Amino acid sequence: MTLFRTFYSVLILQAVLTLVMVHAQDDQSGFISIDCGIAEGSTYTDDKTGINYVSDAGFIDSGKNQEILSAYKFNTLDFQLKTLRSFPENTRNCYTLKPKQGKGNRYLIRARFMYGNYDFKSLTPEFDLYLGNDKWSRVSVGSSTIDNEIIHLTSSNYIYVCLVNIGLGNPFISALELRLLDNTMYADGLRSLNLFLRKNYGASEIVRYADDKYDRKWNPVANISGLTDVQTSSPVSLGSSTKEKVPSKVMSTAIKTTNTSFDFVSSWKSTNETDEFFIYVHFAEIETLKINETRQFNIYINDVYRDGPLSPLDHTTSTYFFRANNATSYELAVSSTRNSTLPAIINAMEIYNPIRLQQQQTEDQDATTMWSIKSTYGLKRNWQGDPCVPRDSVWDGINCSNNVADNLRIISMNLSFSGLSGEIAPALANLTMIQSLDLSNNNLTGSVPKFLASLDSLKILKLEGNNFTGPLPAELLEKAKKGLLLSIEDSGDQDGDACHTGSCNNDTRKKVVIAVTTSTIFVLLAIFTVLWIIKRRKTQDPSKREDFIGPTNPRFTYSEVKKITDNFSNVIGKGGFGTVFSGLIGDTRAAVKMLSESSAQGYKEFQAEVSLLMSVHHKNITSLVGYCDEGSHKGIIYEYMANGNLRTHLFDGSRNVLSWKKRLQIGYDAAQGLEYMHHGCTPPIVHRDVKCSNILLNENLQAKLADFGLSKAFTNGDATHVSTIIAGTPGYLDPEYYIKNRLTEKSDVYSFGIVLLELITGRPAISTDISVIHWVKSMVEKGSVENIIDPRLQGGFEFNTAWKVVELAVTCADRSSVKRPTMKDVVMELKNCLDGAKPNNLNQNMSLSFESMEGPNLR
Ligand SMILES: *[C@@H]1O[C@H](CO)[C@@H](O)[C@H](O)[C@H]1NC(C)=O
Ligand SMILES: *[C@@H]1O[C@H](CO)[C@@H](O)[C@H](O)[C@H]1NC(C)=O
Ligand SMILES: *[C@@H]1O[C@H](CO)[C@@H](O)[C@H](O)[C@H]1NC(C)=O
Ligand SMILES: *[C@@H]1O[C@H](CO)[C@@H](O)[C@H](O)[C@H]1NC(C)=O
Ligand SMILES: *[C@@H]1O[C@H](CO)[C@@H](O)[C@H](O)[C@H]1NC(C)=O
Ligand SMILES: *[C@@H]1O[C@H](CO)[C@@H](O)[C@H](O)[C@H]1NC(C)=O
Ligand SMILES: *[C@@H]1O[C@H](CO)[C@@H](O)[C@H](O)[C@H]1NC(C)=O
Ligand SMILES: *[C@@H]1O[C@H](CO)[C@@H](O)[C@H](O)[C@H]1NC(C)=O
Ligand SMILES: *[C@@H]1O[C@H](CO)[C@@H](O)[C@H](O)[C@H]1NC(C)=O
Ligand SMILES: *[C@@H]1O[C@H](CO)[C@@H](O)[C@H](O)[C@H]1NC(C)=O
Ligand SMILES: *[C@@H]1O[C@H](CO)[C@@H](O)[C@H](O)[C@H]1NC(C)=O
Repeated sequence: MTLFRTFYSVLILQAVLTLVMVHAQDDQSGFISIDCGIAEGSTYTDDKTGINYVSDAGFIDSGKNQEILSAYKFNTLDFQLKTLRSFPENTRNCYTLKPKQGKGNRYLIRARFMYGNYDFKSLTPEFDLYLGNDKWSRVSVGSSTIDNEIIHLTSSNYIYVCLVNIGLGNPFISALELRLLDNTMYADGLRSLNLFLRKNYGASEIVRYADDKYDRKWNPVANISGLTDVQTSSPVSLGSSTKEKVPSKVMSTAIKTTNTSFDFVSSWKSTNETDEFFIYVHFAEIETLKINETRQFNIYINDVYRDGPLSPLDHTTSTYFFRANNATSYELAVSSTRNSTLPAIINAMEIYNPIRLQQQQTEDQDATTMWSIKSTYGLKRNWQGDPCVPRDSVWDGINCSNNVADNLRIISMNLSFSGLSGEIAPALANLTMIQSLDLSNNNLTGSVPKFLASLDSLKILKLEGNNFTGPLPAELLEKAKKGLLLSIEDSGDQDGDACHTGSCNNDTRKKVVIAVTTSTIFVLLAIFTVLWIIKRRKTQDPSKREDFIGPTNPRFTYSEVKKITDNFSNVIGKGGFGTVFSGLIGDTRAAVKMLSESSAQGYKEFQAEVSLLMSVHHKNITSLVGYCDEGSHKGIIYEYMANGNLRTHLFDGSRNVLSWKKRLQIGYDAAQGLEYMHHGCTPPIVHRDVKCSNILLNENLQAKLADFGLSKAFTNGDATHVSTIIAGTPGYLDPEYYIKNRLTEKSDVYSFGIVLLELITGRPAISTDISVIHWVKSMVEKGSVENIIDPRLQGGFEFNTAWKVVELAVTCADRSSVKRPTMKDVVMELKNCLDGAKPNNLNQNMSLSFESMEGPNLR
């Protein structure tokens, strides 16, 4: 309640302040008055009008300040016209006006041009003037002043006045003025009114501010032969039939014909028959009529009667409005009626061309955000005009929605490598339709704000390569669960310590990216939970922090592990080195592999695996959540892989048959994990135990490599192989390695070939004393290739791709390591198969080794 009252009184206070301001404003509060080309930051009050002008520097980034030649600076020239801003560079240059009264208002916008041979070329340019994305007018500059004026009902808080080079000289502008009009004025339809002419009859000089509080420029027309100028010293008031608020000063002069036999005629030409004209004629009786005198007249346009008979009211303004089109020349006649004893009179007239502006603009909220971001980060980009229009010059680094009807929304922004510093701008919270936001590789600091999580459409968020501090907001992680793809450094290891084993190349060391997808979110959650636990523990008992790998390891105590696994109650697997349990860290499921206490031999593998997983991060490699190393209790905590290992899906009487496509995808996933180990890490890592049971599947059947107990990194960069004691699993073991005791990445390629064959055939690596590779080769030799494919698929595969994969698998499992492809090749080939695209030819060695098996029925 108190809160509400406070809020309410703030509102009232604001309203009062606004009112006070409106009253105290000297009536220029609805004005933006820009003198283009004067020194940045300068302001002045114009002698003639009392209007306060400012420099244009705050409204535009581009262009050059210029001054007209002194020969043109005659005394009567408006001060604003003596300088100008010229635009020799961009095709399109835009002023951004943001009137504080905002959208939904009618504004008069006036652009003024005075060439004055500023460039010593004596060549007057021609260019286009735009309001946002809509062409307003072509400007053909002559030797004298040109004014372009439009009355514009805005649908946006931003008004962009753009000058567009059309190859006929550099655009320039001398002054830009915006005036807030009363909303009832010129309220005929929603079109914008481009001023054609505005005349003040009988006047000897221009009337504008402050006589006209809307600062319309009323041009004098007097001393016309055959016409008599008349004027009054009494004020002329506004009648009920006028909404245009023509000032008294304008109405107090008029012209009349010499006698009633003459009509007053005004004529003009149209450059295009389709142009429409809106004509406002203003009348007031400013002569004192005798009792037996009447002034009465009709109005004709192109000899067609339009209104009358009418008699102007004494010192009271009446406005008559007409539309006209479909002609090349027009004649408006004010013609006395027979009854009239006095000749026709006219005080003022305005003619406009209505133009329909599409006014498609960026939604204000998004535009505001963009301008705010531009200024917050001091971006020096050519960001000008509306961010999203015209569609062919959208601001660099953003993409906008494609709708036709509504205002445009920003749907993606990429400000990577833009040198941004400071915190993430709160203004970003207002880009409510954004789907992809890339702020990576800047110098951003501070914490990652939680408002990013409330951007409902956000699907991609890249933040890596910055210097953020603190944990990620839980809301963001929650959102990542629902599909946000988030990339940011693992904040657990800001520096390179995790890579002390030397297994990451420089690139990945700096950007250890955790891709958070639906499938891997719980890993991140787990990591952060763990980090939090560690942090808490650190503060509780710093002495306990004796580390075995790095300073910020996700190390768990045995009692924590006991708690996580609910006292080791849920066994999900048994392996060579121990038992695997399911556990819960917070709400996140994890897999805990405990080494059997008797197995002293497993400790080295345990150590190898932990340090390797700490330094390797890839979507197709199971992530480490933590580990436990307390006396004889040694365990590794991994992300939970809901679908277990590939082996159970292929062979162990699994009822659900993996589809052909799924098998390809699994092969592709696993290949990518291996490719990363071989080619993404320096020095490369050889897994040494690639097999179906070491390929785990998450709830989406995304495959990840696991079990790195045997993995070895090549510590010496020059070595192409290392000699080790033979390890691995029979059936998958590289025969060359077995014979020569030489370990290379190609050994993994061999094993991977066997895995691929298992995927294809549904037969295990070794069954009833024939290995799958020999079986496949024998089938090929018999020419019965179709029978190679797992019969459980019941023909549900595409023959050509299947053949490609068989070929690839057999090549991988070639006895000679040099003939095997690299994992890079394998990934590419599998991708092609997945895409259904025609696979590239593998290198010649591979094709050769398989040539003999090619039968006529194979392709
Ligand atoms: C009209 O003519 C009179 C007399 O020649 C002159 O004083 C006045 O300035 C003229 N007005 C205009 C607007 O030219
Ligand atoms: C109007 O003036 C013209 C010449 O100035 C004259 O010929 C004509 O008779 C006049 N008409 C009237 C009704 O006074
Ligand atoms: C007249 O205007 C119409 C519609 O704006 C345009 O299509 C046409 O080309 C114009 N004609 C000329 C002669 O400018
Ligand atoms: C109007 O009345 C005045 C006398 O009051 C007279 O001089 C004038 O001619 C009359 N005008 C007309 C048009 O009747
Ligand atoms: C334009 O004028 C011509 C005759 O001048 C007429 O036939 C035609 O119907 C008019 N079109 C419109 C749209 O008024
Ligand atoms: C002109 O005057 C006559 C007689 O005074 C009157 O009957 C008629 O209605 C008047 N016409 C107009 C258009 O006012
Ligand atoms: C905008 O869309 C294009 C084409 O889809 C894409 O290439 C570009 O990366 C996108 N830009 C941003 C900032 O997302
Ligand atoms: C952003 O742009 C960079 C290149 O400047 C590119 O590498 C990166 O993929 C882009 N980000 C997104 C999300 O498209
Ligand atoms: C961060 O700032 C430093 C200097 O302040 C600069 O050398 C470095 O290039 C910046 N990094 C990025 C990614 O902009
Ligand atoms: C978001 O926009 C609203 C108005 O649309 C504004 O009041 C608010 O200050 C903006 N938020 C930020 C963080 O700029
Ligand atoms: C991040 O901050 C550290 C120290 O605070 C600094 O050494 C490093 O250069 C910063 N990185 C970037 C990209 O600015």
